[in-house]
Amino acid sequence: MAASPSPKPSPLEESRPRNGFGWAVPIKAGRFVPVGGKYHVAGDSPETRAARVNDLFAAVAPRYDLINDLQSLGLHRLWKRRLVRLSGVRPGTRALDVCCGTGDVTFALAREGAETIGLDFSAAMLQVARQRADRDPGKNPPRFLQGDALHLPFEEASFETVTISYGLRNVADLDGGLRELKRVLQPGGRLLILDFGKPDWAPWRWLYFQYLRWCVPLLGRLFCGDADTHSYILQSLRAYPGQRAVDDRLVRAGFDQRSLHQLLGGIMAINVATQPKAPPSQRSFSGAETDQVG
Ligand SMILES: C[S@@+](CC[C@H](N)C(=O)[O-])C[C@H]1O[C@@H](n2cnc3c(N)ncnc32)[C@H](O)[C@@H]1O
Repeated sequence: MAASPSPKPSPLEESRPRNGFGWAVPIKAGRFVPVGGKYHVAGDSPETRAARVNDLFAAVAPRYDLINDLQSLGLHRLWKRRLVRLSGVRPGTRALDVCCGTGDVTFALAREGAETIGLDFSAAMLQVARQRADRDPGKNPPRFLQGDALHLPFEEASFETVTISYGLRNVADLDGGLRELKRVLQPGGRLLILDFGKPDWAPWRWLYFQYLRWCVPLLGRLFCGDADTHSYILQSLRAYPGQRAVDDRLVRAGFDQRSLHQLLGGIMAINVATQPKAPPSQRSFSGAETDQVG
């Protein structure tokens, strides 16, 4: 009997690096760029990148909340609270939290009384979110929905507020993502983006990148038995343009009234932008307001 052919590797398997050296390889003297490890992002097609990201969050979902607290020393809670404050949601506001993960921001918006939907493409992350909702439904429970940020299953102008926290960096097509977030916002509606930033001050940026390079994978190894997954943050951040360039991309996508809120010297940032009320010809494209928050 002929031997059955060995199964064809999935696109995900095929595109995994096979250097066997872990997560960092030198490409220039004195400069290490992490391209190894299971979750490298450089050079991926959007489809492969999306599959990789989905794979990654399926792996980390059960410990995602714990590791978030450890890596940020609990500060991510403050930053998310600030995002929700800036959103200005009120009881009845129609809000969408894209890339909601385990639902921190979704629940916080719902606690303010907003009619909130949390959307994510990871079944594993949504499962944790739903378990949290079952444990503590609250007075105004949000809904969770599986879906793709690049193809939102909603009509135009469906929401007054759209948030995306630690999600835009992971979306395979940043400009496509912004267009899609804008499409579902109603005129005058607000988009809020919270993500890792790139500090302007070089020594601070260096220190922070060292933390992401060495400490975060170590925490991943200690608490999840997997350093690769957590070295992904630095890799994805290198591929991400950072808060100032995101502001430019918001202009290009056609948003108005932008503001940039730098947190802890720019290691995190919140970009806020508004869906214009006026037709494009009457819009002004002035620079974003910026504030610094400790
Ligand atoms: C770092 S987690 C952030 C979770 C949560 N928003 C938070 O702040 O803790 C990123 C999430 O984005 C989701 N994600 C990435 N790309 C996505 C896409 N194209 N569509 C929907 N969800 C996506 C992942 O599944 C993951 O749950």
